Amino acid sequence: MSEEIVIQARKELTQMKPYSPGKPIWEVQKELGLERVVKLASNENPLGPSPKAVEAMQAALTDLHRYPDAQSIQLKQAIAGRYELAEEQVIVTNGGDELITLISETFLDASDEIIVPGPTFSEYEFGAQLMGAKAIVAPLKGDFQYDSDAILAAVTERTKMVYLCSPNNPTGTILSKKELQHLLDSLPKRVLVVLDAAYSHFVTAEHYSDGVEFVRAGYPLIVLKTFSKIYGLAGIRVGFGAAPQAIIQSILQVKEPFNVNALAQAAAIAATGDEEHVTRSQTLVIEERERLYAAFQQLGLSYTMSMSNFVLVKVGEQSESIYKQLMANGIIVRLANTWGLPLHLRISIGTPEENDLLIAALSDILKQKV
Ligand SMILES: Cc1ncc(COP(=O)(O)O)c(C=O)c1O
Repeated sequence: MSEEIVIQARKELTQMKPYSPGKPIWEVQKELGLERVVKLASNENPLGPSPKAVEAMQAALTDLHRYPDAQSIQLKQAIAGRYELAEEQVIVTNGGDELITLISETFLDASDEIIVPGPTFSEYEFGAQLMGAKAIVAPLKGDFQYDSDAILAAVTERTKMVYLCSPNNPTGTILSKKELQHLLDSLPKRVLVVLDAAYSHFVTAEHYSDGVEFVRAGYPLIVLKTFSKIYGLAGIRVGFGAAPQAIIQSILQVKEPFNVNALAQAAAIAATGDEEHVTRSQTLVIEERERLYAAFQQLGLSYTMSMSNFVLVKVGEQSESIYKQLMANGIIVRLANTWGLPLHLRISIGTPEENDLLIAALSDILKQKV
């Protein structure tokens, strides 16, 4: 068979840009012939997975001939208990990414609009485009802080959903509890709010809310969380949503039966009980964030104060050259031009040793004036 394929994909797909992930370590090792590569590009946990999760996965291996629990009941119970929610207010998904797709499939028609902050995580717009809906960007302020007025001004009669990412990827800035309350009270009741709190564990600001209290209070709000960041389980794919029961019920209608694999369920249950790993991971990020700030200041680089496990740094017009030189030194960071920020790099916080390597390489590169 050598006939030309004439099957057309849906027209919506022609508008869509593929997600651009951080370069994997193996690729850089192969391309540049490097043995040691430090990845500070995907906001992963540099301490590795929760050891309790690893143990639980090992114990679950012999049962892999069985299908996983379709409703992730035990994990759902663990999450509901931790966040003082009813089990019916929780949905467990194949990473936070799957939740965004499921929400889009559940709630978006082709004539709908969603409002997203700009710049932010690209998957919200991806979900809208998949359904033929339109994403309207409500820009953050000049210092990347949230602008509630811009969000409210973007509302039209077509608005179906508003995404809030707090801490926001790639800026690390947050929405205060007061602003969240204000938005929830001001938006029309027909508008579903999605608060992406993937990085909530790294927030130290007291005026922050991860939104769960507003779910408990019955607002039309979905809070997204993930096991990929603080729990170090990005590779096994598990996340969850918390929302009023009626919203969860609708999303369950489009969920595939066995969306979360058995190892992921076992790992996440164990990880939620691994307080030691959570505390170690939080402490590392909070301490190293300060150390990176000090290093950037010394290098004369401006940065955005972050409530997350990454920092957005302004390196100027040479950003691409600096990015490439860091890569040549075995350090992968993220070029922020994918978010329309051509002067910036987004750097994930690593172990103290990894951050030392980053700081040393960056200062060498800047001394050579690129
Ligand atoms: C803001 C934000 N939300 C959600 C996710 C999705 O995480 P995952 O699909 O790994 O759970 C990410 C991943 O980087 C993210 O940055």
